[in-house]
Amino acid sequence: MYQFTRMHESTKATRYRSTALVAVVEIIYTYGASEIDALIPLARSMASFTLALLSAVLLLCSAVQAQLSSSFYSRTCPSLPNIVRSTMAQVVNKEPRMAASILRLFFHDCFVNGCDASILLDDTATFTGEKNAFPNINSARGYEVIDAIKSNVEAACPQTVSCADILALAARDGVSLVGGPNWKVSLGRRDATTASQSDANSNLPGPSSSLSQLVASFAAKGLSARDMTALSGAHTIGRAQCANFRSHIYDDADIDPCFAAARRRECPSAGGDGNLAPFDLRTPDRFDNSYYQNLVAKRGLLHSDQELFNNGTQDKLVRRYSVNGKAFAKDFAAAMMRMGAISPLTGASGEIRLNCRVVNK
Ligand code: HEM
Repeated sequence: MYQFTRMHESTKATRYRSTALVAVVEIIYTYGASEIDALIPLARSMASFTLALLSAVLLLCSAVQAQLSSSFYSRTCPSLPNIVRSTMAQVVNKEPRMAASILRLFFHDCFVNGCDASILLDDTATFTGEKNAFPNINSARGYEVIDAIKSNVEAACPQTVSCADILALAARDGVSLVGGPNWKVSLGRRDATTASQSDANSNLPGPSSSLSQLVASFAAKGLSARDMTALSGAHTIGRAQCANFRSHIYDDADIDPCFAAARRRECPSAGGDGNLAPFDLRTPDRFDNSYYQNLVAKRGLLHSDQELFNNGTQDKLVRRYSVNGKAFAKDFAAAMMRMGAISPLTGASGEIRLNCRVVNK
């Protein structure tokens, strides 16, 4: 990619130079040498403007190239991938749902001002963060898992690895440990020094979203409708609370009646808000394509889930993923890489937090 961009730039520069040469010859031919003197200051200022423009373009290119890379810590913390993976393996072995909880934590981090570990910051007397925003309060979980990984990483490589990168690696490892795809995690994110509760309230899609709202909220993060449908397959693992799917199982028509009746037993029409149900009844802790099979059978748990298969634009893709687990796995991995690249802090921006819950002193 780097080489391609440089070659592309130099071809463009050569083409630019020859066009400029032709223009100069044309001017001399048209005006004669004496009139050229008058044009020299103009030409000079045009040249310096062009130079400034070219340097700005080159600077922009190198800023983009200086972003994330999977080998970012290969010299400074070579043991990082093993530390994250082995801690996640212990955690998921004890509680398989944690793979789901960490994956969701990463999604909720990336969708609120980029993948910058802002979700991990605790509220203080003077600081209001994202943990208590509506989509996260009494719902997002796994913070202590990230703490445990961070302290293991700090012991091996002090003050080197960001909490944002740890979360990105842990989310990938959780998925692959419960049977999902693997992908290369790009690294080099830095940690935010601030967080926004109001952005967490407004940027994360809710369970009563319509298809067009879902598409719009992912588009706002540079992700396509296809990415959205693939990423929603994360709901093949994990649990949801009754308050988040009550209206779907009591009020919606696009639901298998037997499935609705079964779910109502665990989720009364009033009370029991926190009662949990697995997204996928058959393989609740296995990362497979049954989420899409459920949608085709009108057994989506959230209103927003069933919106992906309700005579709309995503029906065809849902059907494809429901019969082709490999296609889903491939698209999910690619979409996770794109989600993980949302507005990272790099270079001198942000910091490497020492404790993922607080900004450095
Ligand atoms: C498309 C829009 C989405 C909506 C409306 C949505 C909404 C929700 C809701 C309401 C819950 C249940 C929370 C609770 O009851 O405590 C949930 C759980 C979950 N979500 Fe999503 N979600 C969306 C997309 C995603 C994406 C893109 C991912 C990851 C790539 C994801 C991963 C998860 C996981 C793994 C869980 C289970 C967490 C656990 O068991 O702790 N979701 N989601």
